[in-house]
Amino acid sequence: MELYLDTADVVAVKRLARVLPLAGVTTNPSIIASGRKPIWEVLPALREALGGKGRLFAQVLASTADEMVVEARKLTHTIENLIVKIPVTSEGLVAIKALREEGIITLGTAVYGAGQGLIGALAGAEYIAPYVNRLDAQGGNGIQTVTELQRLLTQHAPHAKILAASFKTPRQVLDCLLAGCQSVTLPVDVAEQFIATPAVKAAVEKFEQDWRNAFDSTTLG
Ligand code: E4P
Repeated sequence: MELYLDTADVVAVKRLARVLPLAGVTTNPSIIASGRKPIWEVLPALREALGGKGRLFAQVLASTADEMVVEARKLTHTIENLIVKIPVTSEGLVAIKALREEGIITLGTAVYGAGQGLIGALAGAEYIAPYVNRLDAQGGNGIQTVTELQRLLTQHAPHAKILAASFKTPRQVLDCLLAGCQSVTLPVDVAEQFIATPAVKAAVEKFEQDWRNAFDSTTLG
């Protein structure tokens, strides 16, 4: 499977890249905008924070297919090993098809339905990003959508894989992986929740305390 961080926080990426088996970093226009730095500075900084390795994902901002294609070309010509995120709208589908013909790899994003995701994959997107928590937040069922989409892709568009996105809890992430997703992108706080739960910290402190009490030492000796 592939594990990504969904952030433009260079410091957090550097910290977590040391700890987690990251395949790369995903961004979107809101994430880039939150840092108030130009995308052309942020993407190289994220690559450096990953130790020069890993995949980056960046999204086009244009709303017409022709302009999306121009932005996608600029992104992939400027930044190595970058996958272009294209919203699965009517114009986005036209762009995804055109980019596939050019050999530019895309991710179909802003996916709120299994049928929409399947169409994005059939147009030629290599990755499809359903928005799990946003679906839940609007009264839908993010995990059910991901489960259906995974089955549809396996049967009808096996070249494509889900990169499940928009998470608020580790449980949502696990449920997506159990549904067969091969890749997920996590916000920094959700990634940290996997390893930094209070119970884990307390357990490790208790081991140290017991050892100190018995041997008056903090090493194995
Ligand atoms: C992924 O493609 C999305 O850009 C992102 O994961 C959305 O996450 P959010 O719902 O937390 O904004």
